[in-house]
Amino acid sequence: MAKMRSLCFLAVVLAGSRCCGVFDAVPCCSDGFSPTALGGCLGEEQDAQCPGNVAAQKRIDCHPQPGASREACEARGCTWCAPDVPNAPWCFFPENSPYGYARSGGPEQTDKGWRVTLNKRQALSLFGNDISPIVFEVEFQTKDRLRFKLYDPNAQRFEVPLKIDGPGVTAEEANYEVEFSDDSTHLKIKRKSTGTVLWDSPLVDLFFSNQFLEITTAVPSTSVYGFGEHEHPTFKHNMDFVTYGMYARDQAPTAFANLYGVHPFYMCVEPDANAHGVLLLNSNAQDVTLSPNPSLTFRTIGGILDFYLFMGPTPENVVQQYTEAIGRPHMPAYWALGFQLSRWGYNSLDVLKETVDRMKHYDIPYDVQHYDIDYMERRLDFTYDKVNFAGLPEFIKEMKKNGKHNILILDPFIAKDEEPGTYRPYELGQEMGVWVNNSDGVTPAVGQAWPPGDCVFPDYSNPRTVEWWTQLCLEFKDVLDYDGIWIDMNEPSNFMRGQIPGCADTEINNPPYTPSISDRSLSEKTLCPDSKTYLGDHYNTHSLFGWAQTEPTFNAVKQATGKRPYVLSRSTFVGSGKHTAHWLGDNFSQWKDLRRSVIGIMEFNLFGIPFIGADICGFNYNTTYELCLRWMQLGSFYPFSRNHNSEGNMEQDPAVFGDEFAKISRATLRIRYSLLPYLYTLFYESHVYGGTVVRSLMHEFTSDPETHGIDTAFLWGSAFMIAPVLEEGARTVDVYFPDAQWFDYYTGLKVPSSWKKSHVTVSAPLNKIPLYIRGGNILPQQAPATTTTESRLNPFELLIALDEQGEASGSLFWDDGDSIDTIENENYFLAKYTFSKGQLKTEIVKDGYRGADTLKYNKITILGLKLRPQAVSLNGKSIRGDAVTYEMSGKLVLRISAPLTKELNIKFY
Ligand code: GLC
Repeated sequence: MAKMRSLCFLAVVLAGSRCCGVFDAVPCCSDGFSPTALGGCLGEEQDAQCPGNVAAQKRIDCHPQPGASREACEARGCTWCAPDVPNAPWCFFPENSPYGYARSGGPEQTDKGWRVTLNKRQALSLFGNDISPIVFEVEFQTKDRLRFKLYDPNAQRFEVPLKIDGPGVTAEEANYEVEFSDDSTHLKIKRKSTGTVLWDSPLVDLFFSNQFLEITTAVPSTSVYGFGEHEHPTFKHNMDFVTYGMYARDQAPTAFANLYGVHPFYMCVEPDANAHGVLLLNSNAQDVTLSPNPSLTFRTIGGILDFYLFMGPTPENVVQQYTEAIGRPHMPAYWALGFQLSRWGYNSLDVLKETVDRMKHYDIPYDVQHYDIDYMERRLDFTYDKVNFAGLPEFIKEMKKNGKHNILILDPFIAKDEEPGTYRPYELGQEMGVWVNNSDGVTPAVGQAWPPGDCVFPDYSNPRTVEWWTQLCLEFKDVLDYDGIWIDMNEPSNFMRGQIPGCADTEINNPPYTPSISDRSLSEKTLCPDSKTYLGDHYNTHSLFGWAQTEPTFNAVKQATGKRPYVLSRSTFVGSGKHTAHWLGDNFSQWKDLRRSVIGIMEFNLFGIPFIGADICGFNYNTTYELCLRWMQLGSFYPFSRNHNSEGNMEQDPAVFGDEFAKISRATLRIRYSLLPYLYTLFYESHVYGGTVVRSLMHEFTSDPETHGIDTAFLWGSAFMIAPVLEEGARTVDVYFPDAQWFDYYTGLKVPSSWKKSHVTVSAPLNKIPLYIRGGNILPQQAPATTTTESRLNPFELLIALDEQGEASGSLFWDDGDSIDTIENENYFLAKYTFSKGQLKTEIVKDGYRGADTLKYNKITILGLKLRPQAVSLNGKSIRGDAVTYEMSGKLVLRISAPLTKELNIKFY
């Protein structure tokens, strides 16, 4: 053995590969063990001592709940042994595990695929109430979307009421292949074109009991992204046996904690740079373990195992296919892309007015004002404080006159202890029977939250509740003339462990396995799982609460305003992007939170919620000058750009820190505002074709493995890179430039070719956030102003950044910015621009918005010209010399005046 080890070591060093069988007919490392750099075989030491013959990196936890011990482990037929791999479980299923299922009989054809029956292999049970037989069914929904699910053929179990259907394709048409291994012990899904195995589940590792469902799959690489909602320390996951719980919770971002929403969706980049995505459509409390094998273990405590696989092959295709299934992101109003200001704790209209005045004093771009719970009378929904916020209705009208928009917060709990006859929201709701009920299904669940006394919780999954909510939202519009609604605390949050008087000790409230969620409790900070909602037990529907509230709120705002709705929801689920924006919750004024917000916004773009941002300058704690300034710079490029602060903390709006801070914030926001036509066009594309607005470098440069782990910079679309300062005291940033022609946004200078595919330290003094444009793109811009109401009237510009071939393309979507269904009604303008062979051409794809007729282009900038042109013509007429400025760097600026809605043909000679 010693000799084989040293030969093995040599083979590893020389060939950099596995050595098994290279020098000897007998493999030097047994199957499943990988050679280590020291010439040993990982896991082999344990093999000598540990029965079970499972390499540490392949272990699947047999005691996922706390309190594992040798006795408890062995009692369930598993192996107990110290691992030599970080975080590997001590208690794991042995190779001859007594659990799992076996296939029984051949496949049976169905409409869109086939199904097989699986039977439990042995009588042993991990958590009791095992179900057998179960059915494994595949549905070839589209050529790029496969549904595969495991369910109980003899009893209807809870299924998420999100209908995902597809026309159905034949096995031949599909880009995937589903099969059982020859010995029927593994279920495999392959990418047909490459043969890459995307999914490989051993049936022996499958569990399907009433309250514990588990499945493990190998994944083709460790480039795995997604799962939410959490505060992940990296965008590309650490797979050293890291477990993330998913269960909606009122929880400030904390490492490993389950936060506000639930997104059991991941994307994996395969070794050859193809990407696929997988959704587990399940709303029960669940967790996922990422293991170094690499593999994923999903555990959920209810519903069915309902998976959807999206074939990509690019990351952007994956997200497009995902949102095709779950719902495309909504089209936000143009003003909603402006800068937004919020604070919990203005505490009076006077303080708010002072804030608004100083924003005006510095002329800082600012479109939207939020009103947090301090505008309410004693934190009661559908009221306002007539003492501290006396004159609020008039103030809102005044703000509107000044081109600003107003967002009111509403919470999902209704005070029940007000004087009879004084609080209509409760009395009407009571009359209509709209609350979440206790386990008896009749008495309302009573808890405590912001309002005084006790409160009840509207059950938004009930159509009667939707009626009640819509009516109140409509009536309230006559009191406060809002433009949108911010729905908060909708996990739902309750400031107790379960409702009054606490949760009964039953299996539904305390299941045999509680996933890896904070406090290991399903009722902490929320309602008891045995509460009743219209859709079913809260046990199944808990994480759907915010999701169920979102669409009715969207529709209510639409009806109330007659405009494109704005909804901002804290709790989200699969498909929420269709109706809401999201922010990353109650973050902290800490550098760590600034840094991790970049990861959060990239993840929510994978989840189909591109309208995403974090509280700029941090919510909890007092911010600092430098942190807040860097955050204003980064936040100017969040798709959802809002500065928000918690009660009791120092003021942190961009006008409060004095001249220099205000000047820098203004300058950065003016960059945002000038690029809003580009951002709006990205939202249009995301709405129509699915896909992302913000992207990681990996997303665009997938075949460059160096990009896979980069999460300190991000892109708007494919064209614009933002490389923020994320560390205190830093005056430089390390930027990785993937293989493309890049231009410095500020100077228009080409980034030296020696920077390509390397990390470069670039300068970032306090007044600057590094920004780069990727050659090959045309970005529509517009001169900025204090609000989008004004900037929308300004002249347009085109910023043309050429690639190495001297080519570029781009587009502009434009409409009135806030009417409903402008795309469906064809009331929009869409132009496509191409630059090639010294000529810019415009193709007007749609000219359906007459409001665009008065708009003009006044400037065209070209970056990356190789030679100075001798002459320039616009639509056949030569342009005067003084309208053309050329710099030796290859930057050319044309001053023109041309109508937006006419084709633009510019030639360089
Ligand atoms: C929650 C929200 C926060 C809001 C506060 C008061 O903590 O997440 O944004 O300011 O409630 O309404």
